[in-house]
Amino acid sequence: MRALFVLFFSGGLFAAFAQKPIVVETDHFAQVLQPDEAGRLRVVYFGKKLADASGYAAIATQSKKDDLNLGIQNVAYTPAGTWNLSEPAIQMTHADGNMSTELQYVDFQVEKSKNNITTTRILLRDPVYKTEVTLFYKAYPKEDVVEQWSVISNGEKGAVQLPKYASANLYFTAKEYYLRHYHGSWAKEMKPEETLLSAGIHTLDSKLGTRADLFQPPSFMVSFDQPATEDAGKVLIANLAWSGNYKMDFEMDPYHHLRVVAGINPFAATYTLNAGQTLTTPALVYTYSETGTVTASRNLHRWARSYRIPDGNGSRLTLLNNWEATYFDFDEPKLTGLFAGAKKLGVDMFLLDDGWFANKYPRNDDHAGLGDWQENKKKLPHGLGYLVKEADKAGVKFGIWVEPEMVNPKSELYENHKDWVIRESDRPEHYYRNQLVLDLSNPEVQDFVYGVLDGMFTQNPGIAFVKWDCNAVMFNAHSAYLEKQKMSQGHLYTDYVFGLYKVLERLRAKYPSIPMMLCSGGGGRVDYGALKYFTEFWVSDNTDPLERVFIQWEDGYFFPAIAQCNHITDWSKVGLKYRTDVAMMGKMGYDIVVDHLSADDLAFSQQAIKNYHSVEDAIWHGDQYRLASPWENPYGAVMYVDEKKDHAVAFHFVVTNRFDYHYSADPVKLKGLDPVKKYKLKELNVYPGAKSPIDEMAVYSGDFLMNIGINPELTSAHSSVVIDIIAVKN
Ligand code: DGJ
Repeated sequence: MRALFVLFFSGGLFAAFAQKPIVVETDHFAQVLQPDEAGRLRVVYFGKKLADASGYAAIATQSKKDDLNLGIQNVAYTPAGTWNLSEPAIQMTHADGNMSTELQYVDFQVEKSKNNITTTRILLRDPVYKTEVTLFYKAYPKEDVVEQWSVISNGEKGAVQLPKYASANLYFTAKEYYLRHYHGSWAKEMKPEETLLSAGIHTLDSKLGTRADLFQPPSFMVSFDQPATEDAGKVLIANLAWSGNYKMDFEMDPYHHLRVVAGINPFAATYTLNAGQTLTTPALVYTYSETGTVTASRNLHRWARSYRIPDGNGSRLTLLNNWEATYFDFDEPKLTGLFAGAKKLGVDMFLLDDGWFANKYPRNDDHAGLGDWQENKKKLPHGLGYLVKEADKAGVKFGIWVEPEMVNPKSELYENHKDWVIRESDRPEHYYRNQLVLDLSNPEVQDFVYGVLDGMFTQNPGIAFVKWDCNAVMFNAHSAYLEKQKMSQGHLYTDYVFGLYKVLERLRAKYPSIPMMLCSGGGGRVDYGALKYFTEFWVSDNTDPLERVFIQWEDGYFFPAIAQCNHITDWSKVGLKYRTDVAMMGKMGYDIVVDHLSADDLAFSQQAIKNYHSVEDAIWHGDQYRLASPWENPYGAVMYVDEKKDHAVAFHFVVTNRFDYHYSADPVKLKGLDPVKKYKLKELNVYPGAKSPIDEMAVYSGDFLMNIGINPELTSAHSSVVIDIIAVKN
């Protein structure tokens, strides 16, 4: 243990930096890491990229803040049990029971791949124990995005315990820090709060196991110095790519600098690494901008479309879902009638939701049948194959709902495989939506879940889409499998997610192109870990369009429109036009009975789908600009501009019905257009019989539209306005 003491005191009053800095750079920002004389890797800079890269070497010489009484705060992956007294990134109990860890810089490597993407690996080693941590920084220069994670290796002779194993440990220097974070619950997702961080630790976390984001998603923003606006200010936007328990600590250090430690939640999750084993933590995905949130979120959207979400630059299927139209009450004639409705409406696909399976305990409500994935013979006597064929005959594709990670106690699966269920055998069961979670840390359960999907696709190759639901959280978090294997229960939360990813990895290897919707009772599981496998996600069960204006606004900071599924339903009594216009800002779908539409509503919807196809390129693949916040104005406005700035579409929504609100006193300034190009405007989705106030013949320059703007003439009767903006030749 001697070496540790030597290290502790060798820091001196001010750190000296004998080694060169390691620079992780994108096109606009840089993070500089540098080993000090004692071998500790420090974060010496996070901010705008320097015009002259030689300046990075001088940064550390300008910082005079090391004081042994204060400790060392800016370490790039802070160990516990030695010199550190602040929130650690890693805690370890070594094979001999010792709980101290020091990590010293060894070396680094940079690999360059396509599009100048760099992966920087920095190796750190404990000078006393044979444990190593490699820090990874994958930088996407054009998108200004970094993925940061760590790999922990046990080179000791016996097992080590990891009570904590964070993904990233960041360090920021600013005057003030404003954390925008989210809370909510079912149907109330993405409620923002902006907190001026003060002394102490502000924690965002989840301990729900599955559906981990129900109360709080792993997405956040930090503005530096002052709250960033759309177009100005320094801001970091981040998401932890992990679909389970997470913890993100925002700790103010004594210099009023900000330490961020983010990763898997250490809660009940001590991980055992046997000799020779490694653990790869999930990535914290982040972008940094000095030109406001619009740049930052556009960076993330571009990155997600090009590098993360399957077919992110491709297309999506419009659909008719039967959940709100029928709930569990359907049979073959009813469904085939809905297929005809889907065709009449003009969507690409019919999506069969919950309730199609289980026989001994039929899935006629949410109390029974979950886990028994055989077609219910009474409702579907001819099986799924028949429905696939009938949908094809009707001229629409066929998609299906599953919730394969879960089980109702009233099911054959539960009766036959109680040991596959996460539960405490000596305690009363506790349910969430009358169901329990299957133990995906168990490879047999992984095979089962894989088999549910693989079996369905093999028997019905015509299945064109999957909605993968996940409605329960984990209570009584205990694994019979881990117990049998004599493994620590501390693995359950973490290995569950690894197990889920293994299943999804296998499915994607065999079925790379099938579109899959990530659903978790709405936005209960929205992160860039799961979105590696899913083409889209179900934003919220709340489809009230007024609520959606706000939820979609917030999701839009983190996720591109092409991944956000918005359905038009009868959840609210708000007019069909408003509902349709809101749903267009993403991937549009329906959850209605087409035959119940009036002639005008049907004609409106048929035209709306055509309109949607005419602007989908800008929405799916273009850049999003938030024009007016619904939180700050009596209306909200968002626009999407295609890459060439030839085609854009702007959405405006009244969000209050208070008396005397002048929604349209002033024009709304557009963004992202080419100032030199000329544009014509046309209002889309004009309800039959209504007349648009927008002059279709007028020609405006991009400069005019961006500096003066256009008045959408919002009123309580004209409460949502979609304007198509098309470049015309001079
Ligand atoms: C929750 C989902 O969010 C809904 O859209 C629907 O699929 C139900 N589950 C079905 O049980």
